[in-house]
Amino acid sequence: MTAFNPSAWESSQWFIFVLCGIILLGFFGILASQPSKKPIQKPPVSNRIRRPPKLFTLEELRAFNGENGKPIYIAVQGPFDEAPTVFDVSRGREFYGPGGPYHVFAGKNASRGLAKTSTDPDDVEGPLDDLSESQKDALSQWYLRFMEKYENIGHLKVEDVANVKKSD
Ligand code: HEM
Repeated sequence: MTAFNPSAWESSQWFIFVLCGIILLGFFGILASQPSKKPIQKPPVSNRIRRPPKLFTLEELRAFNGENGKPIYIAVQGPFDEAPTVFDVSRGREFYGPGGPYHVFAGKNASRGLAKTSTDPDDVEGPLDDLSESQKDALSQWYLRFMEKYENIGHLKVEDVANVKKSD
């Protein structure tokens, strides 16, 4: 029988300790390299276009002002888009429906009114080229809000927007 040798015992303890460390590191390394099993997250419902995107003229848009129970559409210019996005805001009928405080925006390209924070009918529609930086920022904030809250159903026709009279 061999005599107890404290230094050999200590070094074998160290050996086991280091070995366990290596095994644990290897184990976690393998776990980390596994592809994630998480399902791919769908974008929020409001950001998915559920119907094929539609192109509207300003005239076509006007019909969707919520009168006679029709849906309510509003176009809002996004900061990086060529033409305003058309949103179905029917779920905000208390705001935009007949008698609502923002009915003046219903069925319109409301970008100018939103940018100027104005419900004056003379301000609602019109060119955007004379807006100040802070008005452009305000418009971008409205666009983000609409993106989050309402269904995006299409765009205005670019030619139609280009026809909006430029400011002098
Ligand atoms: C005295 C001035 C005003 C007050 C106190 C006011 C207050 C409010 C309140 C409390 C809401 C509801 C917010 C929510 O539930 O999410 C709202 C919504 C709204 N406000 Fe005003 N507002 C004022 C003026 C204006 C003006 C001048 C505009 C013109 C751009 C405007 C545009 C809007 C719009 C578009 C919404 C609806 C947003 C949506 O669809 O969620 N407001 N306002």
